[in-house]
Amino acid sequence: DTVVLAYSGGLDTSCILVWLKEQGYTVIAFLANIGQKEDFDAARKKALALGAEKVYIQDVCREFVEEFIWPAVQANALYEDRYLLGTALARPCIARRLVLIAKEQGARYIAHGATGKGNDQVRFELSCYALCPSIKVIAPWRMPEFYQRFPGRRELMEYAQKHGIPVPVTPKAPWSMDENLMHISYEAGILENPKNRAPLDLYTKTCDPTTSPDIPDELEIEFEKGVPVKVTNTRDGVTHRSALELFMYLNDIAGKHGVGRIDIVENRFVGMKSRGIYETPAGTILYHAHLDIEAFTMDREVRKIKQGLSLKFSELVYNGFWYSPEWPGLRPGQGVPPLTVQ
Ligand code: ARG
Ligand code: SIN
Repeated sequence: DTVVLAYSGGLDTSCILVWLKEQGYTVIAFLANIGQKEDFDAARKKALALGAEKVYIQDVCREFVEEFIWPAVQANALYEDRYLLGTALARPCIARRLVLIAKEQGARYIAHGATGKGNDQVRFELSCYALCPSIKVIAPWRMPEFYQRFPGRRELMEYAQKHGIPVPVTPKAPWSMDENLMHISYEAGILENPKNRAPLDLYTKTCDPTTSPDIPDELEIEFEKGVPVKVTNTRDGVTHRSALELFMYLNDIAGKHGVGRIDIVENRFVGMKSRGIYETPAGTILYHAHLDIEAFTMDREVRKIKQGLSLKFSELVYNGFWYSPEWPGLRPGQGVPPLTVQ
């Protein structure tokens, strides 16, 4: 039996890869380039060295912006008044690629490294089942034969050493991170206690507002049908028109000025509260710019109705319902780009 594994290149999914092989599966590793800092060549070599039958590394940055982030901008998507949904938006983008590869390769299984306490398991699984109901999802962190064998990081490291999995040389940050083009999140570990402040050097996408430049940048953002189509920096005339490029540019400018940090407690789908710190530079600018556009263009009563729909939209995204029947946007199977074997 063949399984497509959502591979990150990290310790957990590397152990999962080897463990799946031990269970008798043929493993195909899939790693999405969704804008995270990662050595993709090294990750490919690593997965192959660990015995992956094939490794797919696909750049999904452009579709992530155009098909996932843009609808969120149009909707003013915001979860519990604070969270711009950076991780939640990325999951259905990754999941449809997993399904595509599984179909192409005739794999009946998809595996992921999300835990049993979080939102990501829900998002991956609801997406995969909606797009391909015959798929079976393997979630090792919910299987006793896996989590009893790996009660902690020490056991993972020992397993890694035994099976030739390169163990991380730099000590692990005492929290968990998830990064993509839209945001980076930090949670768990020492951050779980809301009394613990974020260390100053935690942040990676934005600079400290107390040391950011005093000279402002002024941006002109042009919207069409609720999505940005042109960004101009009026200070130096720099202009961007394509979705991906203008989004990356807004990340740079916002990052430079320390825009887009939040430190919150949120309610997870599974019912627990979770403290999280987020940096969402471009997303923060666009959220506010789009609200301003609506102030000019939207009818007063329509606006009230939209606020309710926006709340619903945000909840659907957060809870992993991107491909559900009640989803207002893209239909399953629509806009899925052709699979290119790399
Ligand atoms: N709490 C955020 C969310 O649910 C971020 C999750 C981060 N995921 C991760 N695997 N570290 O969207
Ligand atoms: C995880 O539990 O895998 C990460 C956190 C989340 O999914 O909410």
